Amino acid sequence: MTAYEQKHTLLHVDNLSVVYDGKTIIKNISFEEKDTVVPGREQGQIIAFLGRSGRGKSTLFRTLTGLEAPTTGRVLIPDYSKTVHDGQQPAKMVEEGDVGFVNQKYTLFRHKTVEQALAFALRRSPLSATEKAEKINQYLADWGLEKVKMQYPNELSGGQRQRTAILEQLLNSGHYMVLDEPFSGLDIGNIDNVRKAFQLINRSSELSTVIFSTHDIELAVELADSIYIIGYPRENGSPGTSGTIIRHFDLKKMGLAWSEKLNSDHYDCIKEIRDIMLSS
Ligand SMILES: Nc1ncnc2c1ncn2[C@@H]1O[C@H](COP(=O)(O)OP(=O)(O)OP(=O)(O)O)[C@@H](O)[C@H]1O
Ligand SMILES: [Mg+2]
Repeated sequence: MTAYEQKHTLLHVDNLSVVYDGKTIIKNISFEEKDTVVPGREQGQIIAFLGRSGRGKSTLFRTLTGLEAPTTGRVLIPDYSKTVHDGQQPAKMVEEGDVGFVNQKYTLFRHKTVEQALAFALRRSPLSATEKAEKINQYLADWGLEKVKMQYPNELSGGQRQRTAILEQLLNSGHYMVLDEPFSGLDIGNIDNVRKAFQLINRSSELSTVIFSTHDIELAVELADSIYIIGYPRENGSPGTSGTIIRHFDLKKMGLAWSEKLNSDHYDCIKEIRDIMLSS
């Protein structure tokens, strides 16, 4: 089991709820994620949200990224523009633009080709123009987008759009990135690209924090070090109708995080998650 320490808070979600037209979609969502420090290497955080369709994952993600104000509660992230005070990094409420977001619909700029979109994503990077072009060409080749680099979003397949949207955020984001179902609808080669990209980001900076949702439990257990299950809790014996966190698996604590290969303990965890999801 890898030794690790938990340092300052990277994300603090406090009593979040969202009500649409009088219907409570998600409620009582509270959790905290801290900077994980593993001696001798850069180790970021990967957090997965699992839950059956309609339980409120996308709704939660829109509030995590500041795209939508919650009905109650708040989302706090560290404010690195302020200096550490009493050993604590001051926190701020998340605002739109603080966090990179790949939404479930893979929204792209209509008037930018794939190549232009990626160049735009790199506009604030300190790299030289040549280095930027090289980096973009490498990604286009690795992610199978070379042939479509001059094409506009309406001329791309769903998977090509999705990969462009994910790449845009990889190139543009700071430490914190939220991806809503980044793996759905991709072929196995592309799933592998996105999986490898996650692992690369995860080892690129201690502060790097990737939050994603998926319906693939095995992939979540393989990639994440923290998994939250969103479901309808049972209320007086019958299923509720508002989504909340019904279980948290801290894979670091369980000794399941950062494994090269899945072992029988991982498969036990996958089975447990499946059973919890089926009953919620
Ligand atoms: N703008 C809206 N107005 C009213 N209801 C909404 C709105 N957006 C989502 N909902 C409802 O909120 C519930 C949760 O939707 P959400 O998209 O968050 O679920 P999800 O867990 O992401 O599902 P999936 O796994 O299918 O993506 C659904 O019942 C949905 O109909
Ligand atoms: Mg969703």
